[in-house]
Amino acid sequence: MNKAKLIVANWKMNFLNQEALNFCKKLIQKRKLIKNKYVICPPTTLIQQLALKFKNISFGSQDCHYDNFGPYTGDISVEMLKNINCKYVIVGHSERRKHHFENQSLLKRKLESVIKSNLLPIYCVGEDIKDKRKGKTNNVLLSQLKNTIPKSNKKKIIIAYEPIWAIGTGLTPTVSEIEKVNLYIKKIITKINSSYKKTLIIYGGSVNNKNSVNFLKSEFIDGLLVGGTSLKVDKFISILNCK
Ligand code: PGA
Repeated sequence: MNKAKLIVANWKMNFLNQEALNFCKKLIQKRKLIKNKYVICPPTTLIQQLALKFKNISFGSQDCHYDNFGPYTGDISVEMLKNINCKYVIVGHSERRKHHFENQSLLKRKLESVIKSNLLPIYCVGEDIKDKRKGKTNNVLLSQLKNTIPKSNKKKIIIAYEPIWAIGTGLTPTVSEIEKVNLYIKKIITKINSSYKKTLIIYGGSVNNKNSVNFLKSEFIDGLLVGGTSLKVDKFISILNCK
């Protein structure tokens, strides 16, 4: 039997109170069917009330600031997220790199802050279509990993391989392409620090309830980061049931 995988729902900027409550209620009703571990990453405004109400669900944030307190208008710190029972933090999603100009030195500080607070970072890496066409995927990943992942850390991190060209497009790499990349990522991070050898490497980008079946069969894909399909509760539950 395959081991349970980690499925992360990235709701992005979607859902108001009632939709989020209904979604989580349904997850709890169907909990007996669920075979994989999962984390829900709602908009920050929803985390506290969901985490208070649904103690059996793990919640994550979609971003954080690198400092715990200070003059950073509009930002939310890891300490604040921890205070509302958030357990995971997505760091470096390509939408934040693009729309919020997040660079590697900023992401390094964010990762350090999440790790220091004992939350689990889900660090997103991936190439854009130009780099893919030029055969530069590995170079991009190498740079994204070696300039950001802390060298002397012994705590767990999670890496999400999310090719930018696959996000929200309906396109995905093949299972064997993802496997190759995941093995490469594992090689790089283990060189950074041998304690990363058990790191979970999940895949994200146009995952749906159909293609997830094949992704989850692979022993080199430790889980999935799901955007669009994580807003459709029945389809999301069918990904959680899949083993
Ligand atoms: P998608 O998004 O599943 O809608 O492609 C994935 C992501 O951005 O994490």
